[in-house]
Amino acid sequence: MTEPWPDHLFLVGCGNMAGQMLTRWLACGLAPARVTVLRPSGRPVAEGVQVVTSYPAALPRGATVLLGMKPYQLGEVAQALAPLCGGETTLISILAGTPLAELRRQFPNAGQIVRAMPNLPVGLGQGVTALHAESDSSPADRAAIAALIAPLGLAEWIADEALFNEVTALSGCGPAFLFRFVDALARAGEAIGLPADQAARMALATVQGSANMVAQASDSPAILADRVASPGGMTREGLNVLDADDRLCKLLTDTLRAARDRGEEMARGG
Ligand SMILES: NC(=O)c1ccc[n+]([C@@H]2O[C@H](COP(=O)([O-])OP(=O)(O)OC[C@H]3O[C@@H](n4cnc5c(N)ncnc54)[C@H](OP(=O)(O)O)[C@@H]3O)[C@@H](O)[C@H]2O)c1
Repeated sequence: MTEPWPDHLFLVGCGNMAGQMLTRWLACGLAPARVTVLRPSGRPVAEGVQVVTSYPAALPRGATVLLGMKPYQLGEVAQALAPLCGGETTLISILAGTPLAELRRQFPNAGQIVRAMPNLPVGLGQGVTALHAESDSSPADRAAIAALIAPLGLAEWIADEALFNEVTALSGCGPAFLFRFVDALARAGEAIGLPADQAARMALATVQGSANMVAQASDSPAILADRVASPGGMTREGLNVLDADDRLCKLLTDTLRAARDRGEEMARGG
């Protein structure tokens, strides 16, 4: 198998999100000497990774650029970076709410441009990254991106870019929703009489073990839930509460809708 790494990776910004991606790539064998990070603070990133505070005269040959700063900085970054980007430069943007058309407008001469929406567990190789490429991108270009993203966890190509706010609501915001669920399960255990620290440990281990189990199972989570709930038993009684009026599903639909709507509002400048 050919290696998944570009000749050179040039990161613009390396904060919470891009930092997690880089951590995982380095852990999976990307040579630090093939990485340059541009960040205004000049803070070191990892041993052997060059950190710069201003743009070089030219990008290294075959560079893939990852835009990892804040979306509002796109104009300022593009002014300095776009003249360095030619047809050989691949551009990956993780900027939330920034459409491909806007990226292409800012980087008219770049090679392929890909929009990516990762989530934080990419640092563990257990993230989700939604991807959307320009309509004229070649299968080889897409394969190169897929290979680079694969070490981060699940990669999903999104056919319709208009769904990016929905994707962000589910997998981008999802870790926070799961953190809430784990906390709520623990607090519910406490509410029915368990010691708080024990309930917290048990809630987390239950979610972790169950997620691993469902990931390995051939049945869907819906079927697994019913399989472990015998009629008249304790689990069934509990599920009846969650299932009544489809309340859990409605709650989560409302949750994703609120996040999605906020994304649309922000895209309109709100
Ligand atoms: N956090 C998430 O869960 C998440 C998920 C998906 C996508 N995203 C996207 O990821 C991007 C970064 O978010 P974040 O949470 O990682 O933000 P962050 O932690 O604040 O990181 C921002 C990075 O941008 C750098 N930076 C600041 N001004 C710059 C400039 N003028 N030119 C170049 N770089 C500059 C910062 O440099 P210093 O390090 O020197 O301060 C920092 O490394 C955003 O566009 C966001 O939409 C975030």
